[in-house]
Amino acid sequence: MSFEKKILCIGAGYVGGPTMAMIAFQCPQYRVTVVDINAERIAAWNSDELPIYEPGLDEIVKAARGRNLFFSTDIQRGIRENDIIFVSVNTPTKTFGHGAGMASDLQYLEKTARQILEYSESSKIVIEKSTLPVRTALAMERILNCRKNGIRFDILSNPEFLAEGTAIRDLNQPDRVLIGSQETESGRKARQTLMDIYANWVPKEKIITSNIWSSELSKLVANAFLAQRISSINAISAFCEKAEADVTEVSRAVGMDSRIGPRFLNASIGFGGSCFKKDILNLVYLCRHYGLNEVADYWESVVKMNDYQQERFVRTMLGAMFNTLAGKTICLWGFAFKADTDDTRESPAIFIAKRLMEEQAEVVISDPKALKNARIDLAGFEDRVRYVEDPVQAAEGCHAIAILTEWDLYRNLDFNKIFEGMVKPAFIFDGRNILDHRRCFDIGFNVYPIGKPPLTHF
Ligand SMILES: NC(=O)c1ccc[n+]([C@@H]2O[C@H](COP(=O)([O-])OP(=O)(O)OC[C@H]3O[C@@H](n4cnc5c(N)ncnc54)[C@H](O)[C@@H]3O)[C@@H](O)[C@H]2O)c1
Repeated sequence: MSFEKKILCIGAGYVGGPTMAMIAFQCPQYRVTVVDINAERIAAWNSDELPIYEPGLDEIVKAARGRNLFFSTDIQRGIRENDIIFVSVNTPTKTFGHGAGMASDLQYLEKTARQILEYSESSKIVIEKSTLPVRTALAMERILNCRKNGIRFDILSNPEFLAEGTAIRDLNQPDRVLIGSQETESGRKARQTLMDIYANWVPKEKIITSNIWSSELSKLVANAFLAQRISSINAISAFCEKAEADVTEVSRAVGMDSRIGPRFLNASIGFGGSCFKKDILNLVYLCRHYGLNEVADYWESVVKMNDYQQERFVRTMLGAMFNTLAGKTICLWGFAFKADTDDTRESPAIFIAKRLMEEQAEVVISDPKALKNARIDLAGFEDRVRYVEDPVQAAEGCHAIAILTEWDLYRNLDFNKIFEGMVKPAFIFDGRNILDHRRCFDIGFNVYPIGKPPLTHF
């Protein structure tokens, strides 16, 4: 069968996998191949148990896989045979050398660029899907176009705005698709090719274009703004606890202002995930690089507030439980960084679990999807942690429950039964404000929400 376009994606992770599955699902006339150096991940993409959990992902992968969606480890062949190449490799925070802890580690991206250069036998459109520092496209361009053998590479920036947990919906009905390109004739032509792909299912007015640096920067800024809202409401939650105000009431009143809007105003233990912190730190690093120290400090405070909120949560637990957690057993409901994903990267639960163990507490972890990743995150702590999938069983014999992920299933459990099975006085620390606090209090729990007065029996 001959396909209209042949598309490759390098990097089969949380972005590459679902994004390409959506293109293949929506466009049966294109052949889409996803390659990765991680053979285990590729094997999982080809199996019944996909390597990541995302609602709705199974269905679209099953519909397209083997028809026009393929997963492979053969990167060389992938590059040779495809003319449109998305690059969706990981770009974590650098952990070594200059810029450690702040700058993006671009080694995977650069390796990918060099592979594209080495294996290409014809001209290609190369699309940055990974989130990258501003002006990375220039570096890509320099690496790729360093050989003068008639092969041309056009670089586009097409950052991904999907949110884990709602990735399929976000890909199917994106708020916008952003494409940054060079304003040259071939840049415009490459841009049109990519616009045509998205136009198969995305309304034309939602496909927007910009210069390539604006596109790269927009992704960092979008994440910085989202994280900033979380840190803003979390800062106010600390104030509410002192002033006996209720942060949910404050959020509602503030969010009804149409200039502000209601989303991302839930106080919590803070943001996690592989992107917010990394992208803000990258923005901070770039600002410092350009001598914009005040701008850098402003954005860095968003991350500091997030760290503070997590530590504050542990201090609240400590204070409520008579200033000692030593020898006590704390049950953590939820380990994923948010609901509807198995992803635990930068999850506040990692920090909180480790802090509780530092206080010499035993920890029982429950999560419907993330226990496999939790075990990896807490490797080396096996003597202090137990993993129990069922939340009711997990709480049995514990002194306290801390809710760390807003999974729906925690809302309507049999709290009478849970209370009976716990050591008294029993505590609930609702780090996501998802429970009916009054009901739990009436059952006998001492309840500590975020940003509201606690309900205690003392
Ligand atoms: N996860 C999100 O919600 C999200 C959302 C928007 C943007 N992003 C950005 O997208 C990018 C990818 O994120 P992710 O969450 O999918 O990461 P991920 O770690 O889940 O996936 C990246 C994959 O790239 C592979 N890889 C690395 N180097 C390679 C190479 N040279 N050749 C082939 N494969 C290689 C890795 O093995 C890995 O499977 C990052 O820049 C991230 O910031 C992520």
